[in-house]
Amino acid sequence: MSSTRPAVVVVLAAGEGTRMRSAIPKVLHTIGGRSLLGHALAAARGVEPERLVVVVRHERERVAAHALGIDADVLIADQDDVPGTGRAVQCGLDALVRERGEGAEPLTGTVVVTFGDVPLLRAQTLVDLVAAHETEGNGVTVLSAVLPDPTGYGRIVRDDDGAVASIVEQKDATDAQRAIVEVNTGIWAFDAAVLTAALPKVGRANAQGEVYLTDVLALARTDGHRVAARPVADAGEVEGVNDRVQLAALGAALNRRTLQAHMRAGVTVVDPATTWVDVHVDLGADVTLLPGTQLLGATSVAAGAVVGPDTTLTDCEVGEGAVVTRTHGELAVVGAGASVGPFSFLRPGTRLGERGKIGAFVETKNADIGARSKVPHLSYVGDAEIGEGANIGAATIFANYDGQTKSRTRVGDAAFVGSDSVLVAPVSIGDGAYTAAGSVITDDVPPGAIGVGRGRQKNIEGWTERKRPGSASARAAAAARAATTNGPADARAEQEERA
Ligand code: UD1
Ligand code: CA
Repeated sequence: MSSTRPAVVVVLAAGEGTRMRSAIPKVLHTIGGRSLLGHALAAARGVEPERLVVVVRHERERVAAHALGIDADVLIADQDDVPGTGRAVQCGLDALVRERGEGAEPLTGTVVVTFGDVPLLRAQTLVDLVAAHETEGNGVTVLSAVLPDPTGYGRIVRDDDGAVASIVEQKDATDAQRAIVEVNTGIWAFDAAVLTAALPKVGRANAQGEVYLTDVLALARTDGHRVAARPVADAGEVEGVNDRVQLAALGAALNRRTLQAHMRAGVTVVDPATTWVDVHVDLGADVTLLPGTQLLGATSVAAGAVVGPDTTLTDCEVGEGAVVTRTHGELAVVGAGASVGPFSFLRPGTRLGERGKIGAFVETKNADIGARSKVPHLSYVGDAEIGEGANIGAATIFANYDGQTKSRTRVGDAAFVGSDSVLVAPVSIGDGAYTAAGSVITDDVPPGAIGVGRGRQKNIEGWTERKRPGSASARAAAAARAATTNGPADARAEQEERA
């Protein structure tokens, strides 16, 4: 991506993040289906550094394990108990020096510094920063932002010629400096030699008693190096997460960005405000997402499919031209041209074949449903294998659990399971076999047979008039009997008499 590869990107993630008020370390909170640190590492990897370092301290084990889980190639550096962004970078570089071993050449090239809690930063912005830093021959280039409300940020102090002189933290700034609206985003490019020389000279004589990375800029300038501040094009990219209000705001901003990219690539999103799509979701051309749709995790939707309204799919695969309406699904595969919903619950291991159907109020789990097979209404299909072109009647239950173990049910090709059947697993319905409606099927039904598992019907004549005399039912029964014995004219007369 970049013409010159930076030597290293150092991602700072040692801070505590107390304002999140969470048992989960701040950088492990997620937006768009990826942790804040995951976003930061993706941007960092995008500039193709020779080494990627993550500086940790707070919740060290969890944060380090998470970083390595995302990217096994990161170097974890531990910050010691000296606080501040400058110390964090120093600890990152020290770890790198240790890794390179004694007697190795000193680090050269460009060192990029980013924060683990700035999730919207684009790789391209880092690429542009590095390119400008290197072509201008700077010792230090800081990415700045012009904000309507700069409160809390370090201010970029420029001299009379407009050249950057220093950065002053909010807590150390004079009133005049606090009026400055150009701020430090915390994203930097340094010449490795300049940074390595300046960092040990940074003291802690400031309002927070911290080693400020920002002090490197003034030190480098004093040493005669070129320093520059480069305003970011989109200030929204460099916002950090400090609390959950910001987490939600940046989550929404990320989602807008994700949806815009999909829309530009040919996806119809009817209502972006109520549609949520995680960053790893894959959408084909002419997919339509109806309002209230959430596509999460590694979900993919192939060309021409329609999803929603009010559908949540996590790690699902939807085939070309399929329609998924008002459905909740996880780890399910919906074949091309298939239809699902409304009100379907697809649990893990559901696989619906091409042009198959899972209809209203149907729950499925570990169920392989063949091409053109239909489960249209009010059923539970668990631990099942259904062939092609089968029809599962309304309200059929695959009784997969006997209270102790779960067993599988097999239904053959073009089988017809009558409405309200209970298939008690383990059991198998052969190809082309039927079950009678209302059957409890406990024995295998051979191919081509019909399984009837219910009591035969018996009618007891005259029951209502004997047992419910004087009731509306008894009167209706009497009228019906009169109509069949006396003919319709007499029945009418009888009714008029009563009225
Ligand atoms: C820092 C900058 C400030 C800038 C702002 C942008 C300094 C001295 N200040 O201030 O100029 O406007 O970011 O958001 O650099 N971190 C560590 N170790 C530490 C301290 C911080 O790893 O000892 C990490 C944190 O985890 C976080 C980042 O550095 O990811 C920023 O830390 P934070 O304390 O929020 O810095 P600010 O005070 O906001
Ligand atoms: Ca901060």
